Amino acid sequence: MKKTTVLGIFCSLLAFNTAYAADLEAGKATAAICAGCHGADGHAANPEWPNLAGQNVKYIENQLKSFQNGNRKNELMSPMAQSLSADDIANVAAYFNSLK
Ligand code: HEC
Repeated sequence: MKKTTVLGIFCSLLAFNTAYAADLEAGKATAAICAGCHGADGHAANPEWPNLAGQNVKYIENQLKSFQNGNRKNELMSPMAQSLSADDIANVAAYFNSLK
């Protein structure tokens, strides 16, 4: 393999990683919709609502997908999940995970 080919593969891998890295700023913007119930800092004001601060990324993503596909149902939360794209889910999950 030529050096340029190796470099080319390396660069495309880098681009691939960047494209799929969660965007915390975008996640923060999406989280503004969630703040009413889950709190701006990820700590819910109402004891019946779950805290999301520091929660695992994979867990948050899985729960949001479950609310979307109806495997998990809640009259407050299910409609909230419907509006989220796959990117929104990845970004907002990373954002809540980053909160203490
Ligand atoms: C109107 C209030 C409300 C809003 C707004 C809201 N949620 Fe929720 N959310 C809830 C409630 C209530 C639950 C608990 C549902 C249950 O008991 O099954 C929940 C549960 C969740 C869970 C599962 C937590 C766990 O520990 O299993 C996640 C993840 C979540 N919400 C994310 C979000 C995100 C992301 C947003 C913003 C896009 C959002 N929520 C907006 C009320 C809300």
